[in-house]
Amino acid sequence: MNIKQIEKKYFMQTYKRADLIVKRARDQFIWDENDKKYLDFFAGISVCNVGHCNVSVLKAAKEQLDSFAHISNLYYASSQIKLGEELAKRIFPDGRVFFSNSGAEANECAIKLARKWGFLNPSKNGNRYEIICFKNSFHGRTLAALSATGQERFHEFFRPLQEKFIFASINDIESVKKLVNERTVAVMIEPIQGEGGVIPSSKTFLKELKALCDKNNLLLIFDEIQCGMGRTGKFCAFENYDIKPDIVTLAKSLANGLPLGAAVAAKKCAETFVYGDHGSTLGGNPVSCAAALEVLNILSPEFLNDSLEVSKYLFLKLEDLKKKYSIIRDVRGFGLMLGIDLVINGSGIVDYCLNNGLIINCIHDTVLRLLPPLIITKKDVDFAIKVLDKALDCSLLTK
Ligand SMILES: Cc1ncc(COP(=O)(O)O)c(C=O)c1O
Repeated sequence: MNIKQIEKKYFMQTYKRADLIVKRARDQFIWDENDKKYLDFFAGISVCNVGHCNVSVLKAAKEQLDSFAHISNLYYASSQIKLGEELAKRIFPDGRVFFSNSGAEANECAIKLARKWGFLNPSKNGNRYEIICFKNSFHGRTLAALSATGQERFHEFFRPLQEKFIFASINDIESVKKLVNERTVAVMIEPIQGEGGVIPSSKTFLKELKALCDKNNLLLIFDEIQCGMGRTGKFCAFENYDIKPDIVTLAKSLANGLPLGAAVAAKKCAETFVYGDHGSTLGGNPVSCAAALEVLNILSPEFLNDSLEVSKYLFLKLEDLKKKYSIIRDVRGFGLMLGIDLVINGSGIVDYCLNNGLIINCIHDTVLRLLPPLIITKKDVDFAIKVLDKALDCSLLTK
């Protein structure tokens, strides 16, 4: 049996894989088993932000691996402790961090933290536990993160879900206000919805949301698992909005491809958890943490500025394509998290791009999603636009 047949026979069929067997990857490029080269505009779903096999990230991870891979969280691993300090300093200098393995687990941590904080900070009539989330959101596949996810299609076979997650509409503050009650403890949002179709919050909306949370003593949780870590041109997406949440969750590109998640909490709720409240055997793995420390080193203001420059160039080119093709309904996003909303199904365009050496993705059937590594150049953009242009042209012919 070949690789594809083995996968078909032995794997639970939870993923729809494209016809690409990867042999190696470096920087913004991937090579398949036949040594065909692809420009990667997806970065493993916003994971390899500083490039595949980034040399200094690899070096840091290998050095840690040579010393030890795991010791448990019952002892001190300096790469993990240093990373915790760095992350807290960057996000909430007087806050605290908890490390997990994945994004869903980082959100589980944030949800549990909010629930305990609501227990310790009740309303006149008792415990607060309800969390306002958003329609169309995505927070992960574990049961609480899934329950916080505002997309019915993910819930279908898994009821009963965790209780007390209720859903408002993004960019509609009245829809949030209507849901606030004496049991509400937190509001949880992706500042830019990713899996929901690359839908950014407006500045006004997030400012109003922050004011609403302050007025009602609610925690504001930002899931920055997809949009954080430099993707929008700032270290965290919230920096584009001139407000600060109370909890930020990160994962995906935190360790540039090694498993790691984090929930970072501001002073207001940082000391909620005490000994025994939460834990994870492998969470904050020292190798992942060593890699992540190097990722943070790389994400300097200069690096982020460079990527922002390229993102502006890409956005303008996409706007040009929008003018040329009426099948493009909208081009939207922030930095290098961009969506091209089509009036047709985009899967044929994704396939065309793959066949022609460009890796992109399509969500909700009609939104082409671009999440390239942050190291792409204008030359890469030119190549991607050329392929996309041809793909759009062909899709018109076959319509
Ligand atoms: C915004 C957001 N939150 C949470 C998750 C879940 O992360 P993980 O797949 O690492 O559990 C994802 C994954 O796509 C995500 O995009």
